Amino acid sequence: MQGPIRVLVLNQISQHGLDRLPAERYLVGKEVAHPDAILVRSADLHSMDIPSSVRAIGRAGAGTNNIPVAAMSARGVPVFNAPGANANAVKELVIAGMLMAARNIPAALRFVTALDPAAPDMDRAVESGKKAFAGFELAGHTLGVIGLGRIGCLVADAAIRLGMNVIGYDPEITVDAAWSLPSQVKKAHSIPEILKTAHFVTLHVPLVAATRHLIGAATLPQMRHGAVLLNFSRDGVVDEQAVLDALEAGRLRHYVCDFPSAAINGHARVTALPHLGASTREAEDNCAKMVVDQMRDYFENGNVRNAVNFPDAVAPRESGYRVAIANANVDGTGWAEHRQHAEQVARRDGLHDRRRRQSGARERDCLDRRDRRRAGRALPSAAGLKPGSRRRASLQ
Ligand SMILES: NC(=O)c1ccc[n+]([C@@H]2O[C@H](COP(=O)([O-])OP(=O)(O)OC[C@H]3O[C@@H](n4cnc5c(N)ncnc54)[C@H](O)[C@@H]3O)[C@@H](O)[C@H]2O)c1
Repeated sequence: MQGPIRVLVLNQISQHGLDRLPAERYLVGKEVAHPDAILVRSADLHSMDIPSSVRAIGRAGAGTNNIPVAAMSARGVPVFNAPGANANAVKELVIAGMLMAARNIPAALRFVTALDPAAPDMDRAVESGKKAFAGFELAGHTLGVIGLGRIGCLVADAAIRLGMNVIGYDPEITVDAAWSLPSQVKKAHSIPEILKTAHFVTLHVPLVAATRHLIGAATLPQMRHGAVLLNFSRDGVVDEQAVLDALEAGRLRHYVCDFPSAAINGHARVTALPHLGASTREAEDNCAKMVVDQMRDYFENGNVRNAVNFPDAVAPRESGYRVAIANANVDGTGWAEHRQHAEQVARRDGLHDRRRRQSGARERDCLDRRDRRRAGRALPSAAGLKPGSRRRASLQ
């Protein structure tokens, strides 16, 4: 490649991430013309004329709805994100949420704030008032985790370490997530199984059509009497009116969430935080580091990890050369042509020795197996591919 790789940075991206792009190989800045890559947080790329020079986009965060993913798929441009980089931040707030509900911390703080510091009998007021806020300990109680992805697994692990019993439900748990779970976590076969068992229920699912109002008028009555519901997922996963009804009926002891709204604000047994889940310095740094590392691996090795519009394609480098090809593989026709092209390039560049052929074949086999496994699962519509077609990345 001629010259440094040019990276246009939109938004404030953590310096901890940008420092991972060595100055001798990357030109990084807010005014870089003809960029090879764009790094972005919240800037809206839908309204931007994305230069044709761009070969990768990195979003330092999880969501990518500020990026025209379908258009980038059509151009063969991977859009990288940083799933799970903020998982620890959310986990810690969930633990705080459980403690707030179990120890009546928000109500106790309201009580203390209302005390008159000038009153001569403040100590007596504290002693007589504290009875109202006696709580219970987390240890020995049962936490139900719905959604055992990156956040749910960390929450389950932390709860086990706090001495809780944990029961989890996720019909599509990944192998990696299952490996990361402590063996003490019990597997539930349905959501009702969680609801009737758990003293705390925490939600860690994405908001999609199937999870909208996952907890609502039909499910809340199945919860254990006096349970605590925690929602650090998305507001739409819970039906707020049904939650208010369950609080009034005493079915729910407390609702803790990250999504204030006119309907729930001010309720004595609702604790709504201002979407603080991922708001830590560390989460911001982690997002930037993760997305920068992935983009660098793509430019330097052709590896694809955590792109929302490409499958993962990762293989170790075995020589100084590598040809990486992305194609939409429409009805299987493009693959053969690209493969032929790759062979031509490899021959031209003198890469076509026996060892490379063997390793290329291994990598192709590996990708073919992965694609066959994924064949039943369509890429997200945002990827902009025609039904039946799959984007494919190959390393040769
Ligand atoms: N409060 C915040 O600031 C904040 C920050 C980060 C993420 N989030 C939310 O948390 C959600 C989870 O994040 P993550 O990183 O763990 O995502 P993830 O993709 O790693 O995990 C989500 C899990 O939910 C499971 N799931 C989907 N539908 C389900 C269902 N009906 N029942 C049970 N499980 C189901 C999936 O199989 C997956 O394992 C995100 O989608 C996002 O909405 C909130």
